[in-house]
Amino acid sequence: MALVTTKEMFDKAYAEGYAVGAFNVDSVDIMQGVIDGAVRAQSPVILAVSGRMLDDVPYIVQACKLAAHDNAIPVALHLDHGKSVKLCKRCVDAGFTSVMIDASLYDFDTNVRLTREVVDYAHSCGVVVESELGVVSGKEEDIVVAGKYGQFTRPSDVVEFVSSTGLDSLAIAIGTCHGAYKYKAGEQPYLRFDILDEIADKLPNFPLVLHGASSIPKERLDIFNCYGGKLPQAIGIPEDMLRQAAAKAVCKINVASDLRICYFGELRRQFALKPNKWDAKEFFLPARQAVADLVYDRLVNVMGSANKA
Ligand code: G3H
Ligand code: ZN
Repeated sequence: MALVTTKEMFDKAYAEGYAVGAFNVDSVDIMQGVIDGAVRAQSPVILAVSGRMLDDVPYIVQACKLAAHDNAIPVALHLDHGKSVKLCKRCVDAGFTSVMIDASLYDFDTNVRLTREVVDYAHSCGVVVESELGVVSGKEEDIVVAGKYGQFTRPSDVVEFVSSTGLDSLAIAIGTCHGAYKYKAGEQPYLRFDILDEIADKLPNFPLVLHGASSIPKERLDIFNCYGGKLPQAIGIPEDMLRQAAAKAVCKINVASDLRICYFGELRRQFALKPNKWDAKEFFLPARQAVADLVYDRLVNVMGSANKA
């Protein structure tokens, strides 16, 4: 089927208490693995493309459209972390069905203004918009926000932000973090479910988004590290916490690091196991298969979106 927006996906996810997985597709191979896993799970899926990828691999957008067209599950094509209004508009024009304007590092009023500008443009083209309030650490961790809620999203801000921007989904900061190191060794993993609940109470039926939500599965990390990768003691968000968030108002869960560890770990293993091979399919097909298996597992056991296509 043709690409769809996330509107119906989120309405159904909210009503039935699960989340839709948004997977960052950094290559056509990874994208095919994501689609394979979603088709096997009969799940809706969001293909997330970062702005950087658009310059490096412009054909990935066409490949995503083709993949959606060839399969019977709902697929949305989403710009992840759009850093400028210009980029968001470019993606709307290119056929994305969802864009994220990431203006969360600006002050509140600027964030509202930039988000509103993207919303006005995107909505006039039938495209939905996500924006972020608060600071999801990792890439953004230099920013220090003081006060009771620290760098987390302030529940007192959300109603004004949603009503003055008209956005379609809100990314919130409740303790998730971008990258492979979300907690220090020995630190007790936590998410601020109290903040999530407060926000959900203030925004009934409104879809919330979790960034930085990879769980860094041990078996995949072990393969990555065993075959020459160096991500010692990487720690992700515990899966039961993601399930808990999905059962609440979180309708979209973003996963990028898990896919990277999975794909490149499997490639490393295949290179090590097959030193006398040089046929691309010997290496890239198993890596794509590993991505499909991981995505299937996430959709069935973490997002809860299997058979919701
Ligand atoms: O926007 C992408 C996701 O927030 C990536 O998060 O590093 O936990 O996979 P992750
Ligand atoms: Zn993110």
